[in-house]
Amino acid sequence: MHILILGGDGYLGWPTAMYFSKRGYEVTVVDNYFRRNSCTELDVGMLYPIPTLAERAKIWHELTGREIKVVIADLTDAEVMRSFFNGTVAYSWAIDKKFSGIPASVVHYAEQPSAPYSLINYKYANITLSNNLLVTNNLMFAVRDYARDCHIIKLGTMGEYGTPNIDIEEGWLEIEHKGRKDTFLYPRQAGSLYHTTKIMDTDLMWFGVRMWDLRVTDLLQGPVYGMVTEESVIDARLNTIFNYDEIFGTIVNRFIVQAIADYPLTVYGKGGQTRGYLNINDTLQCVHLSEQKPAAAGELRIYNQIMETFSVNELAELTRRAGTQLGYDVQIKNIENPRCEAEEHYYNPTYQGLLDLGVKPHYLTEESMQKMFKLVGKYKENIRRDVIFRGVKW
Ligand SMILES: NC(=O)c1ccc[n+]([C@@H]2O[C@H](COP(=O)([O-])OP(=O)(O)OC[C@H]3O[C@@H](n4cnc5c(N)ncnc54)[C@H](O)[C@@H]3O)[C@@H](O)[C@H]2O)c1
Repeated sequence: MHILILGGDGYLGWPTAMYFSKRGYEVTVVDNYFRRNSCTELDVGMLYPIPTLAERAKIWHELTGREIKVVIADLTDAEVMRSFFNGTVAYSWAIDKKFSGIPASVVHYAEQPSAPYSLINYKYANITLSNNLLVTNNLMFAVRDYARDCHIIKLGTMGEYGTPNIDIEEGWLEIEHKGRKDTFLYPRQAGSLYHTTKIMDTDLMWFGVRMWDLRVTDLLQGPVYGMVTEESVIDARLNTIFNYDEIFGTIVNRFIVQAIADYPLTVYGKGGQTRGYLNINDTLQCVHLSEQKPAAAGELRIYNQIMETFSVNELAELTRRAGTQLGYDVQIKNIENPRCEAEEHYYNPTYQGLLDLGVKPHYLTEESMQKMFKLVGKYKENIRRDVIFRGVKW
């Protein structure tokens, strides 16, 4: 089985590449280092340096004997995207440079993934809009033109739904209007321009499914936390990129770093913002199970990819309890909310589909947090307090 991973250098992309490689898949990854370059440009801290994608693939090969083919290229270039499906691909690093054949599945992670980034100013809003929509559109046309049977697994976000005052269903909502019924995509109302691009991605894919019978699984994911996966434990050089800044860091990862750095946990406003979360190892399970049981031709299959929900206050309290037991003096500080969002709201999402597929969740507990504290603590000297909070305003 050949699987193509778009955005294979990223927080989720690299662990996904190793996960599939270990399970015997032929894996090709592509990335243009957008994320790393943005970290450099914006001067935001990564917890530790990571080798280049080609170096990581070589380390993986040395340690496991398995090959992950690497392409460093920009997927907003339609010809680059098409090269993976029409056999013209130019590998940046591979032992066997022969075309691996049309992938049976493609995992689409290659986007600008930060809400604050998308709202720094109009320039970053434009980068987010053009990057995310062009990559998705290029993928849709490449699959339409060369590989209609290829299963697209696209990462969406729970943020597409916003915080409606009714239960959130899994992707679709049946509506009765003037005595007639139909099923539509669940209403979406994003809280950032990044999330708006994710809604537009979904619309593009839904169009491709209706027009050309594409097969698409849309995984609407909540914020992911964690660092280590079953594949990376063998060598720290295989660890994934880990940000703890406001731009690219996700909240649990950030809170743990803040606690270790003796920096009060930054709770925005009242802290009642509730979201669904998952461990990085569960992202891998979800993507794998979706790949094993693909969407049918002409199906847009949507799963809400979260394992549990927490308010920001609950996360801060959990971090405080976990940290205190390890001897850290963890303070919590409610600060003025730089975002435009409800700080207290109803939140009741459904997330049964992936559990039905067979995902075995890892839950966020004091114990699992303490494991992360111990891992992150090894890099304490690298933490830069000046990059933790920037206050990007909506
Ligand atoms: N991490 C989370 O908590 C989370 C939550 C919900 C959804 N998601 C979604 O999952 C996906 C992956 O997220 P992540 O956290 O791994 O982000 P990431 O930034 O670490 O990974 C994305 C990768 O795509 C690459 N990329 C971006 N534009 C590209 C382009 N034009 N050409 C080639 N490569 C490009 C980046 O360099 C980066 O390595 C994103 O689509 C994101 O929206 C992530």
